[in-house]
Amino acid sequence: MKMGVYSAPGRVNLIGEHTDYNNGFVLPAAIEKKIYMLGQLREDRHVSAYSLDLSSCKEFNLEDLQFDKDHMWSNYLMGVVDELQKEGLQIQGANLIFTGNIPQGAGLSSSAALEVATAFTLARLNDIEIEPVRMAEFCQRAENNFVGVNCGIMDQYISRLGQREQALLIDCQSYDYQLIPFKTDRYRIVICNSRVQRGLVDSKYNERRQECEEGVRFFAERLEKEVNSLRDVSLNDYQEYAAGLPGNVAARVRHVLTENSRVQASVEALLDNNFKEFGRLMQESHASLRDDYQVSCQELDLLVELAVSLAGVAGARMTGAGFGGCTVNLVAEDNVPAFKEKIITGYKNETGIKPDIYITDPAAGAETLWEGDKV
Ligand code: GLA
Repeated sequence: MKMGVYSAPGRVNLIGEHTDYNNGFVLPAAIEKKIYMLGQLREDRHVSAYSLDLSSCKEFNLEDLQFDKDHMWSNYLMGVVDELQKEGLQIQGANLIFTGNIPQGAGLSSSAALEVATAFTLARLNDIEIEPVRMAEFCQRAENNFVGVNCGIMDQYISRLGQREQALLIDCQSYDYQLIPFKTDRYRIVICNSRVQRGLVDSKYNERRQECEEGVRFFAERLEKEVNSLRDVSLNDYQEYAAGLPGNVAARVRHVLTENSRVQASVEALLDNNFKEFGRLMQESHASLRDDYQVSCQELDLLVELAVSLAGVAGARMTGAGFGGCTVNLVAEDNVPAFKEKIITGYKNETGIKPDIYITDPAAGAETLWEGDKV
């Protein structure tokens, strides 16, 4: 029976936060931390899955997928199976073992990586061709429908389509993407993990989505064009009508509109090799997430403040959904060791927590590491 080893990475979002579910632009990169999945096809309809890191096993039948609150990790796998089958794709059972090094609950998309690793493994084992963007959509739906988290498309998209030395500009309206070269000897992407777990994040995330939907309804009633998402609202429209919006909704909409412009400006800056400008836009993004979208927290603000006071830092911002998790920093290569040391001491002095620091280059999306078909 066919078997193989496959991997899918986590991600860091360079800029474009909380814009994906508003049909806007995002600019993430895959990171060098991954889920590795070893899979072997079976002749029956049974799946035997084992998480090496949790020493936990889950067995299920392809025809009997039930949410399992005692093995939360297995819901990502079952959710993917469910979506593949709902599309009419014929899959057989499999034995799956996986491990990974993406920190969980840190906003680096370990869940998306697990979904994509599962979809990729099952597609390869069953010899099914699934177009990459479509695979990302299956994985997003698995998370929305089976796991019950109302995330956008960004994390699954980049985990499937990321490429080495490239950031990915994703248009979350058309689902098109453009590779943006991110090969630089001068700057490194440095991720600082606040180690604050994203407590209330799901409810706050949904609240933000609802506030944006309220914004869409508001503009749909006033503008002389079709408004299906905030993508259809311009900054001019906003300036003309914002006074009529409740304060919180006005601020959320302002973040989304300005963030979309920042993503586009960042792409220009990267294409010009202008990291100073890219870093400035990261700063603006953080301020907007902190003040307008209100998804930062003290610890993330502290990490950003410490970072921008240090030599060689082009920019720093929170990354991911917020309320904890990580910041992303652009740091000149030579300054990375001092940056690391100073962030660790500074953050620990203030919070008592030792932050984790990861240095990464944009990495590859899901891939096959080895395949064979011996018994
Ligand atoms: C989480 C979601 C993404 C995106 C970000 C915020 O990572 O899974 O879809 O909305 O938050 O940018």
